[in-house]
Amino acid sequence: MDLSIVILAAGKGTRMKSSLPKVLHKICGFEMLYYVIKEAKKISDDIKIVLYHEAKLIKEQISRYFDDIEFILQDHENYPGTGGAVMGIEAKHKKILVLNADMPLIQSSELEKFLVFGDQCQVVMSVIELENPDGYGRVLIENQNVKKIVEQKDATKEELKIKTVNAGVYLFERAFLKEYLPRLSNDNSQGEYYITDLIEFAVQNDKVVKPIIVDKESFKGVNSKYDLSEAETIMQNRIKKRFMANGVIMRLPETIYIEQSVEIEGESIIENGVSLIGNTKISNSHIKSNSIVEESFIENSSIGPICHIRPGCSIKNSHLGNFVEVKKSTLTGVKAGHLSYLGDSEIKDGTNVGAGTITCNYDGKNKHKTKIGKNVFIGSDTQLIAPVTIEDDVIIAAGSTINKDIKKGSLAISRAPIKIIKNFFYKFFGKDEL
Ligand code: UD1
Ligand code: CA
Repeated sequence: MDLSIVILAAGKGTRMKSSLPKVLHKICGFEMLYYVIKEAKKISDDIKIVLYHEAKLIKEQISRYFDDIEFILQDHENYPGTGGAVMGIEAKHKKILVLNADMPLIQSSELEKFLVFGDQCQVVMSVIELENPDGYGRVLIENQNVKKIVEQKDATKEELKIKTVNAGVYLFERAFLKEYLPRLSNDNSQGEYYITDLIEFAVQNDKVVKPIIVDKESFKGVNSKYDLSEAETIMQNRIKKRFMANGVIMRLPETIYIEQSVEIEGESIIENGVSLIGNTKISNSHIKSNSIVEESFIENSSIGPICHIRPGCSIKNSHLGNFVEVKKSTLTGVKAGHLSYLGDSEIKDGTNVGAGTITCNYDGKNKHKTKIGKNVFIGSDTQLIAPVTIEDDVIIAAGSTINKDIKKGSLAISRAPIKIIKNFFYKFFGKDEL
């Protein structure tokens, strides 16, 4: 598409009350700016990100995802504000779409709507009707035509009551920007150059300004931590709706948290309170209440309730019950019903891990591997001191500490002999037996 896109990300984001730049705050696992760029890329081959505050950090973070976007440094000292941000930009195409980076819910299908007027106008701007317009620029409309945009901080009491607000996305003709950007002034309460003043210039100079009413959800601006939480809730709903449409069952979905990068397929059930994090894939599995799965692959398995699958696991055809924690492990056809820690391990088909089994994978300096073969029966309360290898068809007696490799078919038992002292209780407490 012959469209250049400029994304404004140079502001400080003071209202976030954070040392992290606003556009790097995450929702559903990715930075706000990531989502905006991802959508922009669907409709443009010329994307420029305007930076200033924490420019280096933002550039580093975002370059991990995209390698074909251009970063521009705003002359913020001399030209602060959203108008200052677009000054001096050399766009490749005749039409330039400008959007704020603090709109993580934006979708390319919504952005395409700005192009419907073709060459009929010099400016297309977006408006939303809001019950609570707090924080947004108010759009003054006279005889059904846009007159100007007044920022909240510059608005009169009467103007503050206006519920038609500027959504913060504009389509400009390149020639219009070239002519009118140098005319902006910073004569306002914030001493900034506002991009919104261009609308008034356009109207005064008989340019054609087309307003389009846009979807308030997609164009939601994030200015505070509360806005951030609201935006995340909306994105969560989008994610869950998509999975449910594909046949996933979710119990009490409003209590479930699923990151954008997660995949769920087949006949899967996700119960209440579950968190699915990072590059996680769930296939034909049942994840029970209050379990967490991070950066792992789960297939044909039931997990939880209250299970913690930490990064780097591949779990197939297995059953993991309550209070089982697994990390960086490959489990196939394993049962671990209760209270275990399985870290840096590889466990094969038919193996049963008794309650209280712990892989002691860390010696204080390094992490070591535990390898367990097929059909092993691990009795309850076993400690496996890694590195250790248990071959197939082994039985480990309950309460054993295993610090040697065990050969195929063996029984391993490590127990201090039991000592029984008769009537000790009565002597100790000085009581007679009843
Ligand atoms: C802006 C609009 C307001 C609109 C709202 C929609 C202006 C003056 N006001 O207000 O009318 O209702 O968005 O969400 O444009 N930025 C820069 N350089 C700067 C200042 C800001 O790149 O010098 C970037 C910010 O990083 C941010 C975007 O521009 O991504 C918007 O800035 P912000 O301060 O959030 O503007 P609002 O007050 O929300
Ligand atoms: Ca904003």
